[in-house]
Amino acid sequence: MIEIRDLKKSYGERTVLDFPELTVRDGEALAFAGPNGSGKTTLLRLLSGLLKSSGGTIKKPGRVLYLPQQAYAFKGDLVRNITLTGADKETADRLLQKLELSALANKKAASLSGGELQRLALCRVLSVDCELLLLDEPTSACDAKGAELVIEAIREYKNKTGCTVLMSTHSPVLAVKAADRLIFLNNGRITADGKPKELLTNPGNEWAASFIAGWKIEC
Ligand SMILES: Nc1ncnc2c1ncn2[C@@H]1O[C@H](COP(=O)(O)OP(=O)(O)O)[C@@H](O)[C@H]1O
Ligand SMILES: [Mg+2]
Repeated sequence: MIEIRDLKKSYGERTVLDFPELTVRDGEALAFAGPNGSGKTTLLRLLSGLLKSSGGTIKKPGRVLYLPQQAYAFKGDLVRNITLTGADKETADRLLQKLELSALANKKAASLSGGELQRLALCRVLSVDCELLLLDEPTSACDAKGAELVIEAIREYKNKTGCTVLMSTHSPVLAVKAADRLIFLNNGRITADGKPKELLTNPGNEWAASFIAGWKIEC
């Protein structure tokens, strides 16, 4: 279980995240959506332990994996970019196949397109088991087909490990297909919280309604 109480993050006078309370059940998949600057990355970095809060508490499991918003290529080919986590080659090959990158397996990771690199970064993260998976906009650079592959890989990993998943996204498709629960963030605060399909049809407040009116609903 994740238990967040009175969590705040400020830069100088400005509070960019203010969560009085949030509880996430073990095995739940939670998506966060909100405009640029609403605090999605800040929340995930606080949960990852990379960022220190300005106050409050976070209770979370011990084994946490974090996929940053910017995908990163390490030196070497795609297989090497996965096995550097300690995973074996068989696992790397299986993930590359799953994310339809097998044909590029022996290419330098630095030569990949943005969408390919994002899928490779996901392969790297999913090559290790964890209790809490944090994904920052995991489909942002993907086309529709790439996004489907990412969604399927996240679902399979979650079924296999039973982990809790927290992800930020601008994609209603990801929210509906990969999350059990959707939260809208505005200025670092939770403005709506519910089942993805229900929130999309009945956002519950004016701000959430105008936010999703700007979403291209594809699902
Ligand atoms: N190191 C920093 N110093 C000052 N402000 C920051 C810093 N990091 C993030 N912010 C601000 O915090 C707010 C939330 O950022 P972020 O969590 O990255 O938003 P999102 O991921 O939802 O786009 C933004 O207004 C951003 O400018
Ligand atoms: Mg962000």
